[in-house]
Amino acid sequence: MELFTKTLFLCLALALTNGAPAVQQDAAVEDAALPDRCEGIEFDAITSDEKGTTFFFKGPHLWKGYHGSAQPSNEYFKELDDIPNIGHVDAAFRMHNVDNQETHDHIYFLLDDKVFSYYNHTLKDGYPKPIQDDFPGVPTHLDAAVECPKGECIVDSVLFFKGNDVHVYDITTKTVKTKTWSHLPVCTSALRWLEHYYCFHGHNFTRFNPVSGEVTGTYPKDARNYFMRCANFGHGGGPRKCSELKIDAITTNDAGKTYFFAGPIYMRLDTHRDGLHPFQITRAWKEVTDGVDAVFSYTDKMYLIKHDQVYIYKEAVHYTLIEGYPKTVKEELGVEGHVDAAFVCPKDNTVHIIQGQRIRNVDLTATPRAVTQDRPLPLDGIDAALCGADGINLFKGSQYYHYDSPMILALGRIAPLPENITSAMMGCED
Ligand SMILES: *[C@@H]1O[C@H](CO)[C@@H](O)[C@H](O)[C@H]1NC(C)=O
Ligand SMILES: *[C@@H]1O[C@H](CO)[C@@H](O)[C@H](O)[C@H]1NC(C)=O
Ligand SMILES: *[C@@H]1O[C@H](CO)[C@@H](O)[C@H](O)[C@H]1NC(C)=O
Repeated sequence: MELFTKTLFLCLALALTNGAPAVQQDAAVEDAALPDRCEGIEFDAITSDEKGTTFFFKGPHLWKGYHGSAQPSNEYFKELDDIPNIGHVDAAFRMHNVDNQETHDHIYFLLDDKVFSYYNHTLKDGYPKPIQDDFPGVPTHLDAAVECPKGECIVDSVLFFKGNDVHVYDITTKTVKTKTWSHLPVCTSALRWLEHYYCFHGHNFTRFNPVSGEVTGTYPKDARNYFMRCANFGHGGGPRKCSELKIDAITTNDAGKTYFFAGPIYMRLDTHRDGLHPFQITRAWKEVTDGVDAVFSYTDKMYLIKHDQVYIYKEAVHYTLIEGYPKTVKEELGVEGHVDAAFVCPKDNTVHIIQGQRIRNVDLTATPRAVTQDRPLPLDGIDAALCGADGINLFKGSQYYHYDSPMILALGRIAPLPENITSAMMGCED
């Protein structure tokens, strides 16, 4: 917990106990005055801010991010409760409009018939104003709203929900088309997250297609399993504390997406703007049901190694297992034995395979593939390895060893000092 939050709880605890000393800093967490989202809350609004932090709103409170307790929303958005009798936030979204830096990444709050626009948690001049002034044709007293950039919607749009109606607002032409999606539950809040669209209703959510409204897959799902961290909920759970972190494998693909794998889950590291979130590996790589030992990316393919098998996936919108795979590591790469970690440096054709205290190179352009170089590694028990523009990191438990280049790694007889994995690197908690 951040110091600021702790201090805030302490203040609250003191205030709520009439100045009597608070026994515990977290006393306020238990207090009935603060809603507990793990009990199952129907949110009024959900949105990300310009830094990618997701805020969940309920009455005069908000939650910042996926864990932590409720706080007064005017601590973060000062003016939201200033107008008497206007009520609380009905709907909120983060504007996507790269053509207009004046509004891009601003957070819009809709309350009653008013709109508030914030950037950097500061209310913009001229706000609040009537919704009509910014979004002509959009009704007042909305239920939910979510931005939908071009590519995901046909044009840069905002979807405004009221009952079963969806008012699709075209940002460029400032026109509205109304659709009725009766098959979808009435959304009390909506969120765009990792290019997907979620309608929240009760403590559940339903993923929908932002153009057709279509729902595919099994919904509703309980939001507590996905969008917040609650005891007795969750699906495998991601790494929590950096000091307890142990990753199995890590890779960055040609598109710049970085994935790390730990036990049954994976996380994308390049999507800070949307926060970090664990998913089951089988969600993206259906056939990989038992975790991974090592992974590397080469051309437009991802190689996932588990035991003596290698699964090669073609990368497009989804990952598709190439026909004929998995094959044995021996058959595919010409090495035998357990693979601890593997990496390919950007624009290179050599995979470096770490096995115990050996590092073996295999030329990926050769057929059949065979070890071209086999050197000792002055380290043992490496879990994962990643090569990027700034060098190579070899991960072991909650620490990593940094080498500036493959050359230095190949020549290094002495291991560098280990450094601790930080929250900035892996999204864990310090
Ligand atoms: C954001 O707000 C903070 C404090 O309100 C201020 O110190 C900072 O300069 C602002 N940043 C930008 C980019 O406006
Ligand atoms: C939430 O979804 C479950 C099914 O996953 C359903 O049984 C339950 O009634 C739903 N609850 C609410 C409040 O929508
Ligand atoms: C790494 O973390 C450990 C505790 O987990 C701490 O004792 C140590 O000082 C840290 N090392 C560095 C270099 O920060």
